[in-house]
Amino acid sequence: MSPRHFLTLKDLSSAELKQLLSRASELKKIHREGALYEPLKNRVLGMIFEKSSTRTRVSFESGMAQFGGHALFLSSRDTQLGRGEPVEDSARVISSMVDAVMIRTFEHSLVETFAKYSSVPVINALTDDYHPCQLLADMQTYQEHRGSIEGKKVVWVGDGNNMCNSYINAAALLDFQLVIACPKGYEPNPELVAEHKDRVTVLHNAKDAAKDADLIATDVFASMGQEDEQEQRLKDFDGFQVNTELMSLAHQDALFMHCLPAHRGEEVSAEVLDHPDSVVWDEAENRLHAQKALLEFLLCHK
Ligand code: CP
Ligand code: NVA
Repeated sequence: MSPRHFLTLKDLSSAELKQLLSRASELKKIHREGALYEPLKNRVLGMIFEKSSTRTRVSFESGMAQFGGHALFLSSRDTQLGRGEPVEDSARVISSMVDAVMIRTFEHSLVETFAKYSSVPVINALTDDYHPCQLLADMQTYQEHRGSIEGKKVVWVGDGNNMCNSYINAAALLDFQLVIACPKGYEPNPELVAEHKDRVTVLHNAKDAAKDADLIATDVFASMGQEDEQEQRLKDFDGFQVNTELMSLAHQDALFMHCLPAHRGEEVSAEVLDHPDSVVWDEAENRLHAQKALLEFLLCHK
């Protein structure tokens, strides 16, 4: 039987995602109480990184250690994958020695190919197209602070990037309305938008979008791999900063989220990011708990 993979949020059913988010909060409680829970004793997670990371690496590595297992950091700089060994061969070999593989890379098709040839679960830890692990943490954070997100209005401000595409998938699975405000030319995947046109709207004005929002989320203007476009994007994204003025258009108890790292003064003002009520630090911490729930789901539920 082929293993369960987590390449996009859609690899989970709506019920599975909801169960996983509740489990993430339970695991957070268990961890905070200092209770020992080691369901992955002697199991190994291979972590392939072709892009930089702080949160993703620390959360997966700590999560595996807390579960009694081990995580292997595999940089493309030091592996044969980085020297051109075919993905198919790397997948067969690496998956024969570990219990799950986490990959952060550029092209989404690489994780799909890896998964096809892997004998163990593969987790997408960010590609150019999707960042589903971050959405687990974002949705857990919303639920912990405000309850169910079903029927709420979520506004994505900024680039129609990997995070934005994953928000579209989350809207479909958790039944919320998503309004995306991006500059012209920076829209998310059009096929994905068309597929979910019943709940996804794309606008080109942040203020129009922010009205009555329950959650406003954003991300950097230039993602990893787009560093050369930074200067042009700074111009093109004029008017797409999440600041106090924009937040004042949302509901009074609206949350602000950012996957981090953030650029204060660009996509978000320092005032919003560093506000005492900001949940972005919880959001970052929840990467740990949400991914532990994901690892448990993929590796312990037969
Ligand atoms: N949000 C996120 O994925 O952070 P890192 O790039 O630090 O892993
Ligand atoms: N969109 C950003 C997310 C970083 C966590 C990037 O891909 O660089």
